Amino acid sequence: MRAAMVLKRSRKKELGWINRRRQPWSLEPLSSTFFSSSYSYILGPDLPDIWTPLAPPPLSSLNQDSTKLIPTIIDGKSIAEEIRAVISEEVRQMKDTIKKVPGLAVVLVGQRRDSETYVRNKTKACQEVGIASLLAELSEDCREEDILNAVTSFNRDPSVHGILVQLPLPKHMDEDKILTAISVEKDVDGFHPLNVGNLALRGREPLFIPCATKACIELLIRSGVELRGRNVAVIGRSKVVGLPTSLLLQRHHATVSNVHAFTKNPEDITREADVVISAAGVPNLVRRSWLKRGSIVIDVGTNPVEDPSSEHGYYLTGDVCYEEALQVVSAITPVPGGVGPVTIAMLLSNTLESAKRAYGFS
Ligand code: GUN
Repeated sequence: MRAAMVLKRSRKKELGWINRRRQPWSLEPLSSTFFSSSYSYILGPDLPDIWTPLAPPPLSSLNQDSTKLIPTIIDGKSIAEEIRAVISEEVRQMKDTIKKVPGLAVVLVGQRRDSETYVRNKTKACQEVGIASLLAELSEDCREEDILNAVTSFNRDPSVHGILVQLPLPKHMDEDKILTAISVEKDVDGFHPLNVGNLALRGREPLFIPCATKACIELLIRSGVELRGRNVAVIGRSKVVGLPTSLLLQRHHATVSNVHAFTKNPEDITREADVVISAAGVPNLVRRSWLKRGSIVIDVGTNPVEDPSSEHGYYLTGDVCYEEALQVVSAITPVPGGVGPVTIAMLLSNTLESAKRAYGFS
């Protein structure tokens, strides 16, 4: 504590504390140059581990008093629009300059309603920014070999820069075998073991980072949250979100606690966290009592809840009990309209980056 008080102003600035205090909740739109493919931006700075006995300052001065919090709703929809506008412009420049556009191939197996909706949204987003999309639709009872053949043919197709096999696959399929068959250079989902391994190992650069993970970090950075030294609880450890998000947060020098279905008293851990990222896929799992006052919540859950009175017979809800969370948090992503649209924008970004690499276009 004493050490913190005598810390020089220049050192504080270096640690990023000064800006955090002044502007903890800047949601100002960032210039297009802020959103970039720069790896130190999304992967975090490669810093050596030098231990110091200093704790980061509280997230917000509102943290400690009894004043009513007015939480910021982190608007994923408009952040995604900003990102897509930049991508659209880059795709246009690529088309004008080298007469090529990025291409995304999607493999959809079976007729799960949620998977069909996700795939429809992804292909529509591609069209809107000028990315070509291809779709291989296979029946639920197809053979594993049929999927592997589709993946192989996309691996060989030079107009395809990204391949995505929509998950989950039917139970009789070997998911790992199929994901590993995707060329690592076209693995825009970032699920290939080489990409996951390189994300896990500091100093290495994966070719792709999973889209929902990138979306969570993008939302936090754009909301002015300094992750270095923060306690972050990640709920869920799936390969799609929980695991890669824990890995990427560590690269941003956060102190990460991973909570999962076997964790005893998970609320004791989340209640200590400055930032809670929930990707459990369980509606209303995170209650008010799970959250620290002034914390920031990123809700990755998109859980369909049956509702005959709604247009499609169901509505979407997050993992976090939104109304309760609003009473204690300083910022939160809504569902829908939070992480989802930014995740799709990150898929477009990964596909564009892949095409740029393939064509040597910068
Ligand atoms: N199913 C749910 N989310 C995802 C995702 O990000 N990628 C793929 N391939 N399948 C998913």
